[in-house]
Amino acid sequence: MKVSDAVLSRSSVRAFKKTPIQNSVLQELLEKSARSPSGGNLQPWKIYVINGPSMKTFLDFQSTWSEPESPAYDIYPPKLKEPYRTSRYELGEQMYKLLGIARDDKEGRLAQVMQNFKFFGAPAAILCFVDRQMGPPQWSDLGMFLQTFMLLAQEYGIDTCAQEAWSMKNDSVSAFVDADENDILFCGLALGHRDENAKINKLSSERRPLDQWAKFL
Ligand SMILES: Cc1cc2nc3c(=O)[nH]c(=O)nc-3n(C[C@H](O)[C@H](O)[C@H](O)COP(=O)(O)O)c2cc1C
Repeated sequence: MKVSDAVLSRSSVRAFKKTPIQNSVLQELLEKSARSPSGGNLQPWKIYVINGPSMKTFLDFQSTWSEPESPAYDIYPPKLKEPYRTSRYELGEQMYKLLGIARDDKEGRLAQVMQNFKFFGAPAAILCFVDRQMGPPQWSDLGMFLQTFMLLAQEYGIDTCAQEAWSMKNDSVSAFVDADENDILFCGLALGHRDENAKINKLSSERRPLDQWAKFL
């Protein structure tokens, strides 16, 4: 598969089939993803894999979670500026329209958000941590690692959805994986094979035009 094809065919998948994924495949994907560049070659990513039986244990473990938890970090700035605010709003509207969930259907919208915490039915997932000592440069390294992982997954016919939503469950997830107390959960990433019949997977996210964010000098 050409890199361009991997880039163009990847999209966030939010409904998965149960088809299992071998740990050996995930190991290969992780080893290749570690070829991602990182400033000073720090390789600041820390990954926990949940797959098959450990996914079941993880989902069962959720019944012990207390609500609410303090989020690991603010997913978005409190007063999101334009044009970011509109992009975020439009994505949400597009998603709920596809699902036939009305604007005032708060319960329906919340139920969809809560699907995050089931990994959208995916059989496998990775949880990505980073040491709290690290700052924006290393968090950006983690992003590069994740994009490499997601593109390689495309090559292997595996779909993905990165999930910052997990930052809201930092404490519970950290307890489950027995994370180092210095580490913070950046995100989860659901892994599996897309359910082609699920409406949500028809979502095709927009991009702002190039002249709005790039300037050729
Ligand atoms: C770091 C990161 C975290 C994300 N967190 C979530 C999430 O918690 N839940 C979700 O449904 N989508 C999440 N997404 C998916 C984005 O909404 C998605 O990438 C964006 O809308 C563009 O759509 P596309 O991935 O289909 O191209 C996340 C994406 C990234 C890169």
